[in-house]
Amino acid sequence: MATSSSAYFPHLILPKGQIKDGLYCVLRDAILEGRLSGGTKLPSSRALAEMMSISRNSVLAALDRLLDEGYLLTKPSSGTYVAAVIPDQLIHIQQDLNQPAYIPTQTLNINPHIASLLPHWQKSSLSSSQERKIFHVGVGCVDLFPHQLWGKLLSRAWRQSYYQLGQFHDPRGYLPLRQAICKYVRSTRGLNFTEDQILIVNGTQQAIHLAAYALLQPQEQVCLDEPGYDSALNIFRSFGIHVHAINSDDEGMKISEIIENYPESKLIYTAPSHQFPLGGTLSLARRLALLEWAAQQQKWIFEDDYNSEFRYGTHPIQALQGLDQQQRVIYSGTFSKMMFPEFRLGFMVVPEALIDVFSLAKYHTDVRSSYLEQVALALFIQEGHYARHVRKVRKACYERQLVLIEAIAQHLPDVLTVQPTDSGIHVVCWLNDSWTEQNFIAQCAKVDLAVQPLSRYCQIKSQKTAVLFGYAAHTPDEIRTNIAKLAWLIKG
Ligand SMILES: Cc1ncc(COP(=O)(O)O)c(C=O)c1O
Repeated sequence: MATSSSAYFPHLILPKGQIKDGLYCVLRDAILEGRLSGGTKLPSSRALAEMMSISRNSVLAALDRLLDEGYLLTKPSSGTYVAAVIPDQLIHIQQDLNQPAYIPTQTLNINPHIASLLPHWQKSSLSSSQERKIFHVGVGCVDLFPHQLWGKLLSRAWRQSYYQLGQFHDPRGYLPLRQAICKYVRSTRGLNFTEDQILIVNGTQQAIHLAAYALLQPQEQVCLDEPGYDSALNIFRSFGIHVHAINSDDEGMKISEIIENYPESKLIYTAPSHQFPLGGTLSLARRLALLEWAAQQQKWIFEDDYNSEFRYGTHPIQALQGLDQQQRVIYSGTFSKMMFPEFRLGFMVVPEALIDVFSLAKYHTDVRSSYLEQVALALFIQEGHYARHVRKVRKACYERQLVLIEAIAQHLPDVLTVQPTDSGIHVVCWLNDSWTEQNFIAQCAKVDLAVQPLSRYCQIKSQKTAVLFGYAAHTPDEIRTNIAKLAWLIKG
C-alpha cells in the first residue's frame, strides 16, 4: 500500500552542482537504500518544488530521469510512485561472500588429458602473470618493435573502421590483410596459393587447434617431431588423438619412420624450415618423400613455419607448401615472434578443398579474429614497415645469438656445449655429464633466468640433457651480464 513521503522531502539536502542532477542522485540513493520504499507515492512536482524551494523544471527533469531508468512509475490519474522492483535489483546479483563449494578435481569429469596437465599448470608460472625473466624461450626482439608507429596505425585503423566495426565480416579475416600477406609470403617464402586460401587466425596455436578440430577424430593418429612442440602435442592429445614421436637426424624428421611404422597416421605435424626445438631443417629429399607419400596416401601435412624469418647465414628455405603440387599441406605462419608475444595474429594457407572446412571451424571457434588489429597489420605490411622491421630484427637477432654463444664459451665452457645454429630465436645447449637439467634450471631460477629444459619437449625420455636459452629479447649487454651472473653463481 502506498505511503506518503511528504515528510521526507523538507529534510533533503541537495549536493552542489546542477539542482536537477542533485535531486536525481538523492532520490535514487534514497530508493536504493530503502528510505523510500517500493510503492511510496511521491508528492506532485509542484508540491515538491515548493517544499524544497527549487524550480519546478528541476523537479520535472529529475523525476523524468528516474522514470526513464525505472526507479519510478506513474499511474494514470493517480500520481508518481516508487517502483516495486528497482532496476538495480535486476542488474546487481547479490554477492555471496561464503566460500564456494569445493569440488575435487577427480569428480569434475573433465577432458582426461586436460586433467593430467592441470597439476603441472597450477605449479607453473604460466598460469599466472609473469614478471619479465631473462632468456625466455619464444620471445622475439620486443625492444625493437616500433611501438609509436604501431599506436598511430591502430588509431588510423580505428578511424577508418568506424562503420565496419558494426558489421559481420568473412571468418577468414580482413581481405586487404589477406592480400598483403599473400603478396609478402609469396615472394619471401615461395608459397603458392591465392588469397581465397588464406585465413587469419589467432596465432599458430589456434591454427593447430583448428586443424585438429576440422580434420581429426578421437583415436586417430598424428606424427610429431621428437623432441617437438609441446603445445602441438597437448592440443592433439586433448582431442583424444594418438601422437607418435618421430626421431630426427641431420636431415630432419625421419620420414621413413612414419611411412614404415605409422602408415595409419592421418596428419603429420612438422616445422621443416626450423625444427622445434633443435633447429634443423628437413632435407629436400625428405620433403619430397613426405609430399609424395602424403599425396599417394591422402594424408595431411601441417607445416608450422613459425621461425622462417629468423634465418641469418643463408637464404630462407622455400616452404614445403610451395613444393606441394597435390594440395596436401596446411601451412601456418605467425606474427607473434616478429611483432611481440601478445600480438595474437597469424595466418593459415589451406588447400582449396579445405577453405570452407576451415572457415567453418574458425567460425565455430571464435567467429573471427579481432578486426582492428587486422586493419593495423594490413597498413603495417602494405606501407613497407613490416619488411623494414624484419630486416632490423634479423640483424639484431644474429648479433644477439653470436653474443650469447660467445658469452657461454667464455663463462661456461665446462658446463654447456652450444648446438650450432644460424637461425631461430633460441639456442639449445647440451649439458655436460655432471649436470641434470633439473639442477641447472634450479641455478638459473636463482638469478631469474627462464631457461627451459629440453625434456619439456620430449615424449620419450632421453639420456641426453640440454637446456634452451631464448636470446632475442635482450640487448648484447644484458646477455653478457646475465651469463656472467649465472657463471658466477655456478662456480660459487
Ligand atoms: C614450434 C612453435 N610453433 C609456433 C609457435 C608460435 O605460436 P603462436 O603463433 O601461437 O604464438 C611457437 C612458439 O613458441 C613454437 O615454439
